[in-house]
Amino acid sequence: MAEAVVIWIASNAGGVGKTTLSIHIGYRLAQHGVKTLLVDLDTNGSLARFCGLESPIDAEQTSAALFSRQFNGNYPVAFPTWKQAAPEKFGLCLGGDIMVSVALDLPARTGREYVLQKTFKKFPPPAEVILLDSPASLDVLSYCALAAATHILIPSPMSIKISGVDSLLQMIRSESEELNLIPPPQILGGVPMKVAKNADQQMFATEIKDIFEDQDVHCFPAIRENKHFENAANRGIAPLYLYRPGNEACKDFEPIVDAIQSLLNKKN
Ligand SMILES: Nc1ncnc2c1ncn2[C@@H]1O[C@H](COP(=O)(O)OP(=O)(O)OP(=O)(O)O)[C@@H](O)[C@H]1O
Ligand SMILES: [Mg+2]
Repeated sequence: MAEAVVIWIASNAGGVGKTTLSIHIGYRLAQHGVKTLLVDLDTNGSLARFCGLESPIDAEQTSAALFSRQFNGNYPVAFPTWKQAAPEKFGLCLGGDIMVSVALDLPARTGREYVLQKTFKKFPPPAEVILLDSPASLDVLSYCALAAATHILIPSPMSIKISGVDSLLQMIRSESEELNLIPPPQILGGVPMKVAKNADQQMFATEIKDIFEDQDVHCFPAIRENKHFENAANRGIAPLYLYRPGNEACKDFEPIVDAIQSLLNKKN
C-alpha cells in the first residue's frame, strides 16, 4: 500500500469541534470507499463516546499501543457502533484516560517527538487516510502528531481572539523546522467552526478567512453552527449524515472531503 495521507487536526483551543470534524470527514471518506483510520490522542475519550463506545481500559486496545516500545504493528482498531455501508472502511484507535500516562512518560524518552512518525514508518497503518485528533493543549502528543503528519487541517473557533490562528501557524512552521521535518507537513487549510447565522459571526468568519489567506493558507467554507451536532454526539451517533441525513450542515464537510480525495488521486 502507498504511504498514507496523515492529517493532523490541529487547534490550540478546546471544544472547537476537532473531534466532530474528524468523525465527519472520516465517515464521508469511508462512504466514498477510502479506508480511513481516526487516531485519538486525546485524554477526554470523546471520540469513543461520539461513536457509541466506551474508552478501553487496556492500553493495548488504545492509541497508547502506538507509543509502546513493544508495539508489533497490530493496530488496535475499533469500529463505531452505528450502521454504515462499509463498516470496515472507517476504523478508530481510541484514546481516553490512558493517554495521560503516555503524555507523562513521553517527555523522558529519547526522540519523543518522532515516536508516532517512527511507528507509522515501521508499521504502515491499515488505511489510506489517517486522521489524528489531538488534545487542545500543544503538548508533547501534539508534537508527535506534527512530526507524523503529511498534512494539517486547522479548525478555528469563533470565540477566541483572532491572534490564536496566527500563533498556531507560527508554531507549526517553526516547530516543523526545528524538528527538521522534510518535507514539512503541508497545511491543507483552515476551517471556521460552529459559525452562527448572525451578522457578527459571519463577519468574524470572514476575518478568520483573511488571516489564513494572509498567511498563504487556504480557508475552507465554514462549518455552520447547528444544535443537532451535539444531540447526535450525545447519542453516540455523531455523523449528521446518519442522525439528520437531510440537514444542510452535512454539505459543509464536502469541500474538505473533496480536497482529501484529490490528494489521494494525485498520489495514485
Ligand atoms: N458545528 C457545530 N455546531 C454546534 N455544535 C457543535 C458543532 N461542532 C461541534 N459541536 C459540539 O461542540 C462540542 C465540542 O465539539 P468537539 O468535541 O468536536 O470539539 P473538540 O475540539 O474535539 O473538543 P475537545 O477540545 O474537548 O477535544 C460538542 O458537544 C459538539 O457536539
Ligand atoms: Mg476532541
